[in-house]
Amino acid sequence: MRFIKGVRIKNYRVLRDISLGSIHAPAISTDSERSSNSEPLTPITVVIGRNGYGKSTLCDAFGFIVDCLKSDAEQACVRRGGFDKIVSEGSDRIIEFQIRYGNLLYTLCITADDYNVPFVYAETLSHIGSEFGNRDTMNFFANNGAGKVVRPNSESVSDIHLADRRRLVLSTLGNLTQFPDIVSFREFLDSWYLCYFSPDSARQTPLAGPQRHLSRLGDNLANVIQYWEREHTGRLNDMLGRVLGKVLGITRIETYQTEDGRLLLRFFERGLQKPFYAPQMSDGTLKLIAYLLLLGDPQPPPLICFEEPENGLYHKLLGTFIDEIRHWSDGHTGSQFFITTHQPYLVDALTPKEVWILDKGSDAFASIRRAGDDPIVQSMVEEGLPLGALWFSEYLDSE
Ligand SMILES: Nc1ncnc2c1ncn2[C@@H]1O[C@H](COP(=O)(O)OP(=O)(O)OP(=O)(O)O)[C@@H](O)[C@H]1O
Ligand SMILES: [Mg+2]
Repeated sequence: MRFIKGVRIKNYRVLRDISLGSIHAPAISTDSERSSNSEPLTPITVVIGRNGYGKSTLCDAFGFIVDCLKSDAEQACVRRGGFDKIVSEGSDRIIEFQIRYGNLLYTLCITADDYNVPFVYAETLSHIGSEFGNRDTMNFFANNGAGKVVRPNSESVSDIHLADRRRLVLSTLGNLTQFPDIVSFREFLDSWYLCYFSPDSARQTPLAGPQRHLSRLGDNLANVIQYWEREHTGRLNDMLGRVLGKVLGITRIETYQTEDGRLLLRFFERGLQKPFYAPQMSDGTLKLIAYLLLLGDPQPPPLICFEEPENGLYHKLLGTFIDEIRHWSDGHTGSQFFITTHQPYLVDALTPKEVWILDKGSDAFASIRRAGDDPIVQSMVEEGLPLGALWFSEYLDSE
């Protein structure tokens, strides 16, 4: 299973230069030779930090990359108020992302021209050589819409000339089967799941019809349950028995199709005869059900990003939430998780290697460090102190 081993973000709002995990390559947008060579990221990465330290910005950076791929650099900026709003103040005005995925390293640099129109300044995908001395090999590189792509196996090189330099090479070459590495990386980025679950969306009554995957807002919750009723009855019962029944007293969930073809969700609660319908169901229950459907998806997204998943959930359920992530990612799916949180109870369920702390310097830009890199924190956790409690007691603070 390939994982994101490391991420680097430069000049994206408050994130002027942060690295998480292992990149093994210097940034290309400046002459900085510094590369991030810490240990690779774990399947669960949780980012904590005070208000305004960059947690939402980090999640949004993932969204920005996906928007660049699905539309283009200009649209990704427009959705965020324009290039000037997202480029870090006082920087060289080149936003750079590096993603190390397995042995692939993808770099994307966005800047704006004299008319402030954003475009792709540089983009590369390369295969990093192993520690056994294999050399790095290039899949493609492009600057200002022109570059080269290497054909796999033959090593013959073709020129690339993009008609529109706002678009990614990845979205073009990533649809050509002759470049399997590029296709697989494009598919990987394309299927990132950034959770924007909203209970009100989940309360809507959609048209009936089973759907495999939960949408980002959760407005097809009933359709996904309809799909599970048909294809994965065992999973649905397992989810009810292991989590919902135990912690919330919900014994059964079922869909009901109305005469005009809409789909209702019915919930049966221990001790009550009549079912509840989605409009009466609590926000937190709907959220937990949505999370469980997402985690238990037989073909889950390779990367799932939750921003403050604790909002609306009872604090003692947060350990259950992390347990569920571990349950599914250990045995079945292999998804990788990026989570931001303010909740010590959630952090209690984590190891120091999984937790990253954002700080903000006197220059008003963020830095990030791994809790596990602090030997004192590491040894306190080994002695049995929960990590969230250490954070609450300010042992994780830098000052
Ligand atoms: N272009 C920019 N250059 C530098 N800093 C910026 C830029 N845009 C925003 N910021 C800073 O980033 C901060 C917002 O960060 P963000 O929303 O990611 O914080 P957060 O950790 O999610 O906070 P909260 O816990 O309140 O949700 C702003 O308060 C501002 O200080
Ligand atoms: Mg935030």
